[in-house]
Amino acid sequence: MRRLSRRGFLGLAAGAGAGVIVGAAGWSRLAGASTGRVLASAGPLPKPFGVPLPVPPVARPVRSERGADFYEVEQREGRVEILPGRKTAVWGYDGIFPGPTFAARSGRRTVLQVRNNLTVPTVTHLHGGVTPPESDGYPTDLLLPARCSPGQARQAHSGMTGGHDGRTTVGYRSYEYPLSQQAATLWYHDHRMDFSAPQVWRGLAGFFLIGDQEEDRLPLPGGDRDIPLMLCDRSFEEDGSFRYPDHGHDAFPDGVLGDVQLVNGAPWPVLEVSATRYRFRLLNASNTRRYQLRLEAEKGRRGRFIQIGSDGGLLAAPQPLDTIDMAPGERCDVVIDFAGISVGSRITLRNTAAEGGMRDVMRFHVVRTARDDSRIPARLATSFDKLTPSKGMPVRAFDFRRTNTGEDRQMWTINGQPFSTDTVLASPRLGSVERWRFSSDFHHPVHAHLAQFQVIARGGRPPAPADAGWKDTVDVRPYEVVEVLARFAGYKGRYMLHCHNLEHEDMAMMGNFQVI
Ligand code: C2O
Ligand code: CU
Ligand code: CU
Repeated sequence: MRRLSRRGFLGLAAGAGAGVIVGAAGWSRLAGASTGRVLASAGPLPKPFGVPLPVPPVARPVRSERGADFYEVEQREGRVEILPGRKTAVWGYDGIFPGPTFAARSGRRTVLQVRNNLTVPTVTHLHGGVTPPESDGYPTDLLLPARCSPGQARQAHSGMTGGHDGRTTVGYRSYEYPLSQQAATLWYHDHRMDFSAPQVWRGLAGFFLIGDQEEDRLPLPGGDRDIPLMLCDRSFEEDGSFRYPDHGHDAFPDGVLGDVQLVNGAPWPVLEVSATRYRFRLLNASNTRRYQLRLEAEKGRRGRFIQIGSDGGLLAAPQPLDTIDMAPGERCDVVIDFAGISVGSRITLRNTAAEGGMRDVMRFHVVRTARDDSRIPARLATSFDKLTPSKGMPVRAFDFRRTNTGEDRQMWTINGQPFSTDTVLASPRLGSVERWRFSSDFHHPVHAHLAQFQVIARGGRPPAPADAGWKDTVDVRPYEVVEVLARFAGYKGRYMLHCHNLEHEDMAMMGNFQVI
């Protein structure tokens, strides 16, 4: 049975967004900083820099054996204080948002048993994981609520909510991650067919860090000077609950932007730091929002980032950056050196791609001097192997754009096709490297499951700084062609390629590839 994504949007209804025929003015608007439309919060917004930065707790395994750690995590509603004085109901892993951080080791099997105590089906995907297909979190491999009715269960099995090829389970399911991959900053999030955007918005996301020996040997900042930062935007109702449009896909076909900037679930937080080096693992976990990050010290002085890692792990060598561009799904591992900054100074992390209050992200407050044994070595990943194009390498093209699929219905499509579970766009061989070409009409952050890739060209030019290293997500800007070399290592089976703008993803901008 063909399982098409239900979600499309009426071309005419899209008038509030881009419109059916987009004139020159429209396109220049679309070519701007963030694709998407702001959903305004009801009620007052919190003051920036009024709350401390939270750091999500690290999960503890329920048991460990030789070569494996077992975790149990429960998806449930939790009530948390995000806006001072108000409570927000989150759908969280263990009832918190962000969910617990999993600290895993390369080559050590991690088994995550997820129990669904929400009222909706879920799917958990480890983004950046080299994972066997049955544990990869395919959108129709549903985990139904533990307390679902027999009717719901029957319905799911008959394909109403799951699709007949979906591997549906009820109550709990175990995801197995062999993690034969290098140290890297991964994240996990909901991937339910047609509902990833609203479910991630409500809180179903967290960090998953992989460490390895190579990284252990590097004198990088560690311990409480190694902090993951999940950036995402949200909007709120007057009572503090998350605001998300009911018919989000029709009213916000370009994507939903919030008007409150969260870092690790807190609005515009502050982190007190010592005048030393810190490692920050930046993640853009927003549905749609893009970031152009800068560090602004007092009196207009600029700070600088030293990038040490990308989506797939450490770079071969550190890269100093004044600006970091991040599209949804991307990670950037950086060191910020606060040494030499006088105690009492404040440094603001800003998003120059945003407008108004969303230009602020968070603030660092240097409160003391301290001893610092860390260093940024000139060489990081010694095993980094740079891929080069060769003759005879399979070349494939994937075009990401809005398409009229008939009856005035517009959908986000890949190569003109809305997602279907049984359309295979490519069949790369296990162990091979292919040259993939992504083109687009809009901003589309293109993400591949399983395969890591290296960007070799952007708009016919060399890659941008944000393209360095091993990637699994790459920002493709309006009318741009991005070429990557993708390595299909790990497992045979069905995987996906999709846009990581979550509203686009839910509106069918996904496709399958089958590793053979
Ligand atoms: Cu982070 Cu298939 O997604
Ligand atoms: Cu992924
Ligand atoms: Cu998109």
